[in-house]
Amino acid sequence: MIYNTQADQETGKKQKVKPILLGVNVDHVATIRQARGANYPDPVHAALQAEMAGADGITMHLREDRRHIQDSDVERYAACAQTKLNFEMAATDEMITLAMRLKPVDVCIVPEKREELTTEGGLNVANAENSLTPTCKEFNDNNIRVSLFIDPDVEQIDATTRTGATVIELHTGSYAEAETLAERQHELKKLIEAAAYADKQGLIVNAGHGLTRHNVAPIAAIPQIHELNIGHSLMADALFEGLPTAVKTMKSIMQQARANS
Ligand code: PXP
Repeated sequence: MIYNTQADQETGKKQKVKPILLGVNVDHVATIRQARGANYPDPVHAALQAEMAGADGITMHLREDRRHIQDSDVERYAACAQTKLNFEMAATDEMITLAMRLKPVDVCIVPEKREELTTEGGLNVANAENSLTPTCKEFNDNNIRVSLFIDPDVEQIDATTRTGATVIELHTGSYAEAETLAERQHELKKLIEAAAYADKQGLIVNAGHGLTRHNVAPIAAIPQIHELNIGHSLMADALFEGLPTAVKTMKSIMQQARANS
C-alpha cells in the first residue's frame, strides 16, 4: 500500500495510484492481410476498434521490408487517430523523413534485422549514441516524443539520457520467454530495478514485447511504468473473443495489478 505522508499512513488514506496505459500494436492484423495479398483485414479498422474498447494509443511498426504494416496504413491511421500514434521504426533516413512528415505523438526507435521474426533484443544505445543523438534532437525539435527500445540495463539507460530521448521502452522479451520460475523472477527483478533507475533519471518508462494476459500483471504492477505496448497475444485473443473483449480484458488485468501494487 502506498501513502503520501506519515499522517496519511496513520489515517490509512491511500495515495492515488498512477494509471497505467495500454498501447495496442496492430501489426499482426496486417500480417494476416499480407499473407494473402488481400485488402482485408484492415489494421486501421482494428486500431479504431481498439481505441473504442479503451486502448490509450496505437503502435504501428513500418519495417524496412514492409512485411506487415504498409505506408498507407500509417498515413490512414495518422489522419483519423482518436488517441495517439506510436510510430515504431528503425533509425534510417527513410523512416526519419516519413516520421517528420506524419508527425506522430510518439516514435519508438528499435533495432531491425531483415531475417528476424520480431524485434530481437533492445537497441545498443551505448554503441550508437553518436548517430542517435542528432536523430533524437530532430524529433525533440519537432515536438515528437522519442522513445528508445532498450534492455533493462543501467548502461543503456544512461546512454539514452545522453541522447536526449525522454522515454524508454523496456524490452520484456527475456521476462516473457523465461523457461523457469527462477529465471522469470530474475528477469522481473532486472525490469523493476531498471524502471526505478530510469524514473529517477527523469525518463518516462514504457515496456513491452511478449506480454500476454497471463504474464502481464507483475509488469503492470511496477509503479514507474507508464504504458505497456502489446500486440501479438492481443490479436491471438481477438481471434477467439473479438478485439474489443481482448483489449478490455488486458486493460482490466493491467489496471487491477496496478491498483493492488
Ligand atoms: N514494443 C516493441 C518495441 C516491439 O517491437 C513490439 C513487437 O513489435 C512490441 C512492443 C509488441 O510485442 P508483442 O507483439 O510481442 O506484444
